[in-house]
Amino acid sequence: MEIKKVGIVGCGLMGSGVAEVCAKTGYKTIVREISEEALKKGESRILKSLDKAIEKGKATAEQKKQALDNLSFTTKLEDLKEVDLVIEAAVENMEEKKKVFKTLDGLCPPHTIFASNTSSLSIVEMGSVTKRISKILGMHFFNPVPVMKLVELVKPITISEEVFETAKKFALSLGKTAIIAKDTPGFIVNLLLIPYLLDAVRAVESGVATKEDIDTGMTMGCGHPMGPITLLDFVGLDTTYFIAEAMYQEFKDTRYAAPPLLKTMVLAGYNGRKVGRGFYTYQ
Ligand code: CAA
Repeated sequence: MEIKKVGIVGCGLMGSGVAEVCAKTGYKTIVREISEEALKKGESRILKSLDKAIEKGKATAEQKKQALDNLSFTTKLEDLKEVDLVIEAAVENMEEKKKVFKTLDGLCPPHTIFASNTSSLSIVEMGSVTKRISKILGMHFFNPVPVMKLVELVKPITISEEVFETAKKFALSLGKTAIIAKDTPGFIVNLLLIPYLLDAVRAVESGVATKEDIDTGMTMGCGHPMGPITLLDFVGLDTTYFIAEAMYQEFKDTRYAAPPLLKTMVLAGYNGRKVGRGFYTYQ
């Protein structure tokens, strides 16, 4: 089957990036958020990113116009009833995701494929509330979506080969490189990234070095584009904490146990760049 129309659930940091990339590639893309305010915020994030792409020579004004022509916005989940593919990028909460997929299952035609951008939650569990468990997979994008070239395709044991191949073809059409992982918490990237980020917090906590020197160590010593503490602020301390908790609950391995300092900062609301304060402060 061919994907022509895509529905994106959630227009936060990830959803807006996924919507932008789909629309830029030429897919009719409809984005749903829960409130007009959240939609406006997401829409302006997309506009800003398209302008930055032009400024960096990665897109033309004509491509921006085409992308915007392909995009539409709604607060109603019902408006996604005619899409061929749903990419859910709502909050990392299993109950919320199940609610979304259950509702969409009753609205969308049988051929519609469901994908979740979850970083750590079980795809099979999300699919279990629908009547299309053979048509759900994980499509895990990376932040910033228009820049990062990777998509992790999460292949649950329940998916049909034909659906998976269609989803893979779609991911490749976005200009991304696809890697395939089992439906297991953290998939490939977070299985490795989360312990690294938690260890960096432990290093700050135990006074091994300053956060600046830890970051410089990994940027200049290992060629990473960002040091781990800057990356934590970038990903979001709350998001990292949530992923770590989900992985810890599943594996009961202390490598995934969030250090007290991370928990305290999340409780304080110091969630990183998106709120202007994490380990560092931002304008
Ligand atoms: N659209 C298209 N391209 C854009 C763009 C946009 N809006 N904005 C920037 N670019 C391009 C630039 O042209 C540039 O391309 P070239 O390398 O070809 O010149 C490239 O993107 C870098 O842009 P900048 O020069 O503006 O920015 P930078 O050099 O300061 O890099 C960064 C910024 C890409 C964020 C870089 O710091 C980086 O890669 N950081 C690490 C990000 C990372 O690890 N992300 C994954 C987080 S984990 C996750 O998301 C998943 C999870 O589950 C937790």
